[in-house]
Amino acid sequence: MTSDAARDIEASLSTLAERVRESFRTAKTEPELRAANAVVLGKKGELTAVLKRLGEAPAAERRAIGERVNGVKKDVERAFEERLAELHRAVRDADLNRAPFDLSLPGRRPAPRGHLHPLTLVKNEVLDIFQSLGFVVAGGPEVELEANNFTKLGFPPDHPATDMQDSFWVTVRGGVPDARVLLRTHTSNVQSREMTRRKPPMAVVSGGTVYRRDDEDASHSPMFHQIEGFLVDEKVSFADLRGVLTAFAERLYGRKVAVRFRPSYFPFVEPGAELDVECVFCTDQTKTGCRVCKSTRFIEVLGAGMIHPQVFEACGIDPERYTGFAFGVGVERLALIRYGIPDIRMLFENDPRFLGQF
Ligand code: FA5
Repeated sequence: MTSDAARDIEASLSTLAERVRESFRTAKTEPELRAANAVVLGKKGELTAVLKRLGEAPAAERRAIGERVNGVKKDVERAFEERLAELHRAVRDADLNRAPFDLSLPGRRPAPRGHLHPLTLVKNEVLDIFQSLGFVVAGGPEVELEANNFTKLGFPPDHPATDMQDSFWVTVRGGVPDARVLLRTHTSNVQSREMTRRKPPMAVVSGGTVYRRDDEDASHSPMFHQIEGFLVDEKVSFADLRGVLTAFAERLYGRKVAVRFRPSYFPFVEPGAELDVECVFCTDQTKTGCRVCKSTRFIEVLGAGMIHPQVFEACGIDPERYTGFAFGVGVERLALIRYGIPDIRMLFENDPRFLGQF
């Protein structure tokens, strides 16, 4: 090989094989190795460039140069395959030498699953019972106009419940002029709304949160929940109210429970009553005094009565033709009796040791 072209080609080839082996050795992963290989054998690779220059060599030398280039090419290919096999082996070894899977280790505990709050459970149960008796469920706002919470229900303007000390009044920027707004003190606002909206006959239940400036103790909270129910039709009597509420109490507790109706006063019913259910905490506490019922043996759970004719008039229902009953149940009180919880505050502390028991 004496031509210039042949000498140039030989100069390129002489160090190529060694440089390529070195670059393959430093490649630590398969993609790195393939990249190094492309630098030599790729379309624009060094060896490809050398092959392209083969035509410049004199015809008599081409065969010898061709064989030389092919020899180097085979070396490179072998070096590539060897290094690739080495890298694959390294990956496999690393896999095999990883810390072994220990079958005797305890399994991972699944994260504890949440469930509905006991108040929601009781509320849903109560709504279900009334739905099964033919009542439909309605909603109502927690921020309410004084008219729906008090006025339409026959509360006189100076009624103590409307006092600043008893209710949470709300200032609404750009609200309805001259209309006072408060956090509803009971779910009876749904009576005002639904009786204005619907035509009799109707039987409606509605559950939700209510707010009062009540001092907190074992059976009172400033934020609590009520379920309201009312039924309006021709010839509805107090006997219907008694029958519905007694059936409700027995279904909720799954047994006969002592209930008692006591006459009571609410401006929007006449006559009015309170329903008390026997206290489940009293049996062995009577000597020391029961904190929950204050040793009266009964817990008040709801207020009820026959809807006052004035309320019908305020809502656009003919009081000469229609009569009806209404009741408002305290959900917390029901939960206390239903689950035997001795203090209403436990329902709001969010202690998982307590809530996990339901
Ligand atoms: C009312 O709220 C009437 N709206 C109920 C009513 C509806 C009467 C329809 C007639 C017709 P009262 O203030 O008594 O009534 O409350 C009803 C129930 O809510 C009570 O029996 C009690 O179970 C519950 N309750 C009242 N105050 C609290 C409180 N601070 N914390 C927890 N529960 C309460």
